[in-house]
Amino acid sequence: MSSEFRLSMHGQWSGRVAFILAATGSAVGLGNIWKFPYITGDNGGGAFVLVYLFCIVLIGIPVMMAEIFLGRKGGLSPINTMGMLAREENRHGIWRGLGWMGAIAGLLILSYYSVIAGWAMAYTVRMAAGVFVGATADGVTSIFVALTSDPERLLGWHTLFMLMTMTIVSRGVQHGLEKAVRFLMPLLLIMLLILVAYATTTGAFAQGFNYLFYPDFSKLTSESVLVAMGHAFFTLSLGMGAIMAYGAYLPKNISIAKTTFMIAGADTLVALFAGLAIFPIVFANSMTPAEGPGLIFKTLPIAFGQMDYGILFGTLFFVLIVFAAWTSAISLIEPMVAWLVENKNLSRIRASAYIGVLTWFIGVGSVLSFNVWEKATWSIPGLFKDLTFFDTLDGLTANVLLPLGGLFIAIFVGHLMAKHKVKEEMNSHPLLYTIWYALIRYVTPLLVIIVFLKAIKLI
Ligand code: PHE
Repeated sequence: MSSEFRLSMHGQWSGRVAFILAATGSAVGLGNIWKFPYITGDNGGGAFVLVYLFCIVLIGIPVMMAEIFLGRKGGLSPINTMGMLAREENRHGIWRGLGWMGAIAGLLILSYYSVIAGWAMAYTVRMAAGVFVGATADGVTSIFVALTSDPERLLGWHTLFMLMTMTIVSRGVQHGLEKAVRFLMPLLLIMLLILVAYATTTGAFAQGFNYLFYPDFSKLTSESVLVAMGHAFFTLSLGMGAIMAYGAYLPKNISIAKTTFMIAGADTLVALFAGLAIFPIVFANSMTPAEGPGLIFKTLPIAFGQMDYGILFGTLFFVLIVFAAWTSAISLIEPMVAWLVENKNLSRIRASAYIGVLTWFIGVGSVLSFNVWEKATWSIPGLFKDLTFFDTLDGLTANVLLPLGGLFIAIFVGHLMAKHKVKEEMNSHPLLYTIWYALIRYVTPLLVIIVFLKAIKLI
């Protein structure tokens, strides 16, 4: 079979657009709308955003290109792709471990991601019921607290979201994804624009804008830099094999560089719009930016509660968040499921069911960490304070496992693969190629290492 038409055993995208849509569906999710605003608020605003943008360009984009490249070259689940490519390059079989680390990270992320997606589902219902009409900041906050302090309710939504995710994964990720994302992404952008337009009427738009874009470097700590870098990986779905798994279903004749720019561009735009919508609401209602994971749930309902057609827009917006989370969730679990199908001869349905149940169980810990286990925290002196189960999982995956995965990917592609093979397979514009190769070989790994060492205060 010519390599152009080599078919992955899990199916193949119908073409470039399908891949872009699926990868964008993976990238754009809770990371953009829920996590980006709240960690920006926790880490002091502008300077943090600037570091995050730097990380997208100098680390995220090169790593995404490398991951798509590896995935397409291997054509298998990330674990087997890494095993196969290591063999091809006469490298140690331990490189499969990179695939394993990613697959496990994906599972851990999904376990809490699903809980937060559950909040968004609960909010869809509350929006539609008109609960927030005319609500004050205090009222909205108490509705949030009522939800998160009720473990049974959270568990119900978490269960529903996991079922939704595993249903799609069990049918193969290509089906329906293309159509759904093509329709939902523009709609999400429009809704965000409506929210930004509302934000301009709050009287605090300039303040919100400055908070987001005016860097105050005195607020930047080495931990914030680590969080910003970790988020660049998280938001672009990098370092754990999601994009590698999707790359495996990518036809050969497609430009990896152009595709990457589009995905990263769309992802960054959504995050910045979300920030622009949220911070003016924060300041207009005398709230603090450092509200933590509840930030968007305490601010956006105020906006919808006050605007014309708020019930309609609010419901639609939370439905869109749930969809965005859904298209990300299926990519979080795809590497593990694809491996089970390849190696254990399981059907996709069985593989999804096993992994789904396991992930659901881990998620129960995050459900409880917002109520019953709220006080069960621990600290790493000098580094992190009062981490709950949820914070620990989030920190471990986004700030440690994903960047570590990215570092190893950069080392593998930049140093361990034969240069001519990389060049041939990348097949991009010579100047672009030279820049990318220099970034992935030197800049990306060095930056990740420096940020790590700084965070643990070794330099
Ligand atoms: N990128 C997704 C988001 O921003 C989350 C994700 C992380 C998805 C890692 C896949 C892999 O919500």
